[in-house]
Amino acid sequence: MQEVVLYGAPKLTTKKRQIDIPKPGPKEVLVKVVATGLNPKDWKWISESGEDGAVNAGDDVTGIVASVGSHVWEYKPGDRVAAFHRMGAPFGGYAEYAIAPASTTFPLPPNISFEAGAGLPLSFMTAAIALYQSLQLPLPTAANKKDIGVLIYGGASAVGAFALQLAKLSNFKPIVTVAGSSIDFVESLGAATHIIDYRKGNVAAEILKALDGKKVNHAFDAISGKGTHEVISEVLVACGGGRIDIVDPVQDKMWKWPAGVEYSRTFVASAYYQKHANIGEERAIADGEFAYWFYRYLSHLLAEGKFKTHPHEVLPGGLDGILDGVQRLYDGKVSAKKLVARIADTPGL
Ligand SMILES: NC(=O)c1ccc[n+]([C@@H]2O[C@H](COP(=O)([O-])OP(=O)(O)OC[C@H]3O[C@@H](n4cnc5c(N)ncnc54)[C@H](OP(=O)(O)O)[C@@H]3O)[C@@H](O)[C@H]2O)c1
Repeated sequence: MQEVVLYGAPKLTTKKRQIDIPKPGPKEVLVKVVATGLNPKDWKWISESGEDGAVNAGDDVTGIVASVGSHVWEYKPGDRVAAFHRMGAPFGGYAEYAIAPASTTFPLPPNISFEAGAGLPLSFMTAAIALYQSLQLPLPTAANKKDIGVLIYGGASAVGAFALQLAKLSNFKPIVTVAGSSIDFVESLGAATHIIDYRKGNVAAEILKALDGKKVNHAFDAISGKGTHEVISEVLVACGGGRIDIVDPVQDKMWKWPAGVEYSRTFVASAYYQKHANIGEERAIADGEFAYWFYRYLSHLLAEGKFKTHPHEVLPGGLDGILDGVQRLYDGKVSAKKLVARIADTPGL
């Protein structure tokens, strides 16, 4: 089969290569890939590696189950699925076939196209783990929901937009978010009670003005860069303190979280039970179990029309279009959409 690998130094490059179709391990699924979604991590992870460190970076996969491992009982060949591939592991989605853990594979309902579904697995689970495992906010299934104020920074990003939809399902109030050129899209989600335009500056002051005395004590920073942690800290302190969850480490080594602000970091690898610098084994197991059922809950929400996929753009040329797509993510030129490659569009396949 054909696969595309990506490396970053001295410049972003992809290479197509021919490899054998892999066999799934006992708790894995082999998917014949129909579509695969791109993510900012694709360039972040390989930015310093040359050809020796080249990886098939496709972690978002939709397609048809081709075969399953000996311990897999839920899926059979022919099933229509979406799946989150283990980041950095071989046999990602930039290929004709990909391998994913059965636990991070979920049924793709018939009303969701392969292309739209290919933007879901990684970003959706990042948002879900951040809100419900890291910030420990009440689930959409919680009875007797009380008003809880949240700030979701970056409501037009895939992760932020999924967090906004989940926040609405959980009935949080107020829901404050920050966006720029894609404010119309964020409005169309009908989730945020207040949308602040970061292009106008003074974001912390504008958030506090919009809140008009109401409090937000939980924040999810789906951008985690460009000083967003400082803005959020200022808001939380003005609200009497609270918790922030970030997706990327703060770059400023001198940064200290202010008194009253408790921080955590979500890293979506815990969806497949992986520990990381900010969580130990117990939490990794908890996140893996959470991801198992929450992916299947997502299938239900999608089928019922209660959750929307992120807007998407299909790249021209299938696997041949991935380099251009990753470059656009690197250049920060992608607004409010997922870039997706359809494998059958690859010339010669
Ligand atoms: N830790 C993890 O496990 C994990 C998992 C997934 C993603 N991430 C990270 O999370 C971040 C978001 O990923 P993604 O896939 O959701 O990205 P994305 O969809 O490509 O994000 C693009 C959006 O970011 C918004 N944006 C850019 N600068 C902003 C700012 N200063 N304030 C508010 N919004 C801003 C833009 O909004 P406008 O169009 O309105 O300008 C744009 O639409 C990335 O840094 C990614 O690496 C981490």
